[in-house]
Amino acid sequence: MSGFRLEPLFASPLYRAQLGPRALNHALEHACLSISRDDEAGQRWCREHGYEGYTSYASLDDLPQRAPEFAGLARQLERHAQQFCRALAYDLDGRRLKLDSLWINLLKPGGHHGAHLHPHAVISGTYYVRVPKGAGAIRFEDPRLAMFMAAPPRKVRAPRARQSFVTVTPKVGTLLLWESFLRHDVPVNAAKSLRISISFNFAVA
Ligand SMILES: [Fe+2]
Repeated sequence: MSGFRLEPLFASPLYRAQLGPRALNHALEHACLSISRDDEAGQRWCREHGYEGYTSYASLDDLPQRAPEFAGLARQLERHAQQFCRALAYDLDGRRLKLDSLWINLLKPGGHHGAHLHPHAVISGTYYVRVPKGAGAIRFEDPRLAMFMAAPPRKVRAPRARQSFVTVTPKVGTLLLWESFLRHDVPVNAAKSLRISISFNFAVA
């Protein structure tokens, strides 16, 4: 059949970039491990909330002030977030995107992170510090699922843009940014070692 065209509507793009230099990643890996060993409040929070590894999400809100590696990362994140914001054609009406929160995630082998949103944010993302083989994926869910009503499921081999769940496998140094309303989860870490990532939110200041 011919004589028609398809126009993508209301798509929410995923932003992907590779950050450098390699030395920054090494420094971040070292800093993440060191902070996780020292942060007793964070360790306690993880025990109490069944977090399978360590996260600084609930205990530390000053990583860029605490270590220069995080300040260096934050500067790169600001630039990429501005770029993404322009690509999304957001009209901020004279205001700007501000890095609102930044936290470490150490996911143990066998650990996972269930589906969630990042509330109070506009753009969210993750930078991947250590991605052992078998531990890489993040899975995004089509935000329109709740409105699909009687729509049939998509074919297993449907084009990626038509799938209801899309899995992205990052590499070391990968930066992913997405609109914060996109629900996502991290499947079980099937690797034999820690998966290390740094997540963050941008809000409009
Ligand atoms: Fe998340």
